[in-house]
Amino acid sequence: MIQRTIRFHKLVRSLGVASSLSPSSKNLGVYRCFGTVASPNAEQASDPFEDSYDLDKHEYADVDWDNLGFGLVQTDYMYVMKCSNDGKFEQGQLRRYGNIELNPAAGVLNYGQAIYEGTKAHRKKDGNLLLFRPDQNAMRMKIGAERMCMPSLSVDQFIDAVKQTAQANKRWVPPPGKGSLYIRPLLLGSGPILGLAPSPEYTFLTYASPVRNYFKEGSAPLNVYVEEEYDRASRGGAGGVKTITNYAPVLKALTRAKSKGFSDVLYLDSVHNKNLEEVSSCNIFIVKGNVISTPATSGTILSGVTRRSIIEIARDHGYQVEERVIPVEELSEADEVFCTGTAVGVAPVGSITYQGKRMEYRTGAGTACPQLYSTLVGIQTGQIGDKKGWIVEID
Ligand SMILES: Cc1ncc(COP(=O)(O)O)c(C=O)c1O
Repeated sequence: MIQRTIRFHKLVRSLGVASSLSPSSKNLGVYRCFGTVASPNAEQASDPFEDSYDLDKHEYADVDWDNLGFGLVQTDYMYVMKCSNDGKFEQGQLRRYGNIELNPAAGVLNYGQAIYEGTKAHRKKDGNLLLFRPDQNAMRMKIGAERMCMPSLSVDQFIDAVKQTAQANKRWVPPPGKGSLYIRPLLLGSGPILGLAPSPEYTFLTYASPVRNYFKEGSAPLNVYVEEEYDRASRGGAGGVKTITNYAPVLKALTRAKSKGFSDVLYLDSVHNKNLEEVSSCNIFIVKGNVISTPATSGTILSGVTRRSIIEIARDHGYQVEERVIPVEELSEADEVFCTGTAVGVAPVGSITYQGKRMEYRTGAGTACPQLYSTLVGIQTGQIGDKKGWIVEID
C-alpha cells in the first residue's frame, strides 16, 4: 500500500500535473503543482496521503506529531563553530545537543552582543528534506553581524551548518503535512570582556526543534493590539537586524497584550507614533482591493525572508504590491490584514484594536492570505515546483 502510494506520487510528478491556483493570476505558469494543491493551512492541515509516511515510522523520533506547537523540543544534535582571533571561522562540527559553557564576562551575557536567524526544513513525501532560501538568512546574518561589530561566517559556511543540522536531526523533522523542523542559527560574543567593547571571541551555534503552529490560535485569525506606549525600534537603532536585543524589550508590551486576550502587538514608528512598523516577530501586510501594501524596510523593520517571498508571489498572482509608509489610519479602510514570518507562516488577522476601537477584517476563502500562503507552503514542501531557485534539497 505504502509502496503504491509512493509510486503514485512519482507518477503524478512525472506527469507534472498543473493546478489552478487562481484564475485571476497572471504569472501562474511559474507554479506547477505536483499531485495536490497545498492547503491554505498546509502546515496545520492533515496530510491527504497520510499513510505514505508509515513506511519510515521508526525513522521518526517519538513525538506526538499531531500536538506540536512552537515549544522547544530538544533534538539530538547541534552544530558548533568557533571564530579564531583573526576573525575567521574554523571548521564547525556537530555535537550532541546540550548546555554550553560561557565565561560570566561573555559579551553576549553582559552587552547582548548576539544575532540569530530562523529557517525551516520540510520533509518531502519521498523523505528528502527541503530548506527554504537559506542563502537569504545567511546574507541577513552577515548584515546583522556587521551592524553588531561581529565577524561573520560565509554564506556557504552558514548553509552548510543549516544542512548538517537538518540532516543530523532528520528523525525530528515532522512527517509531511505535520509541521517542520525550525532551525535556529545563533552567532554570539562568547569571549570575556569587562569594559564595553566587541567581544574577543565568537561562537556560532545552530540548533533545531520540530514545530507547527506558532500562535496558540493555530490557524485561526489573530487579534492584534496596536501598542502606543512602547516602541520596538528607533531611528538609527538596530531594529532592521535580528539582534537578540530587539526581543526582550517587547516582552512587556507582548505579555500585557496577551493578558488582555490579544494574540500579538503591532508597533508604530517611534518618531511620529503614527506609521505601521511590524508585529513582535513578523511583518505585516494590508490588502485593499487588488493592492497589497507593507511597510517599507528603512532600518527599523526586519526585512523578512517570508515578507520578500510573499511580495514576489503576490505579484505573480496579479496583485499590485506597494512597500511604503502606511499611516495607522489606513487600518480602518483595509479589507484584509495578514502577518508573515518563518515561524508564523502567513497568518490572517481577524481584528486590530487601536485606541479602544476594534477593526475587523475579512478572512478565509476568497481572501488573499490563504491563496498566497498556499503557494508559499506548496513551494516550501515540494508540492509546487520551485521555478525560483528558492529550495535547497537534501537527501
Ligand atoms: C521582528 C521580526 N519581524 C519579522 C520577522 C519575519 O522574518 P522572516 O520572514 O525572515 O522569518 C521576524 C522573524 O524572524 C521577526 O523576528
